[in-house]
Amino acid sequence: YRTASGTGAPSPEETADSDVTYYTLEEVKTHNTITDAWLIIHDKVYNVTSFLQEHPGGVEIVMMEAGADATESFESVGHSPDARGMLIQFYIGELQMVEIAFSQSLQMCFSWITWLMHAIVAVVVGIMHRCYTKERKSS
Ligand code: HEM
Repeated sequence: YRTASGTGAPSPEETADSDVTYYTLEEVKTHNTITDAWLIIHDKVYNVTSFLQEHPGGVEIVMMEAGADATESFESVGHSPDARGMLIQFYIGELQMVEIAFSQSLQMCFSWITWLMHAIVAVVVGIMHRCYTKERKSS
C-alpha cells in the first residue's frame, strides 16, 4: 500500500497492512547517531535524522533517545497535537513484537516450572516426613 501523497509512508492507522516493515529493537539500537537517528514512539519506528536540527526542543534532547524507545520522554513533554501530527512524516515501520511476545511466554513457562518444582519438593518432603514418622512409631 502506498499513500496518495506518494511519500510511501503508510499512516499509523494503516499499519495492519502487509506492506509494513518490522524492525527489531536490536536493529533500531544501531541507528543512534546524528547522521542516522531512529526513535520508537508507541511501538512505531521513526527515522528522525532530517528533523533533528529543526526540533523546537533542540537536537541534544532527541539524541538522548536516539536508537531507543522515546515514548516516555515524548509523552512527558506534553507535545502538541501539531507535534504528534508531524510524526507521520518520519514513520518507517513497526517495532517487531515477536521477540517480546516470545520472551514473555518463555518467562511464563519458567514461572510455571518454578511453581511445579516447589509443588514436587513439597510432596517429596511430605512423603519423606510420613515415612520417617511411621518408621519411628514402628521401632
Ligand atoms: C519525532 C519526534 C518528535 C517530534 C516530531 C517533536 C516535535 C516537537 C515540537 C513540534 C515541539 C514544539 C512544541 C509542541 O508543538 O509541542 C517540540 C518541543 C519539545 N520537544 Fe519534541 N519532538 C519529538 C521528539 C522529542 C523527544 C524524543 C524529546 C525528548 C525528551 C522531545 C523533547 C521536547 C522538548 C523538551 C520540547 C519543549 C521545547 C520547549 O517548550 O521549550 N521531543 N517537539
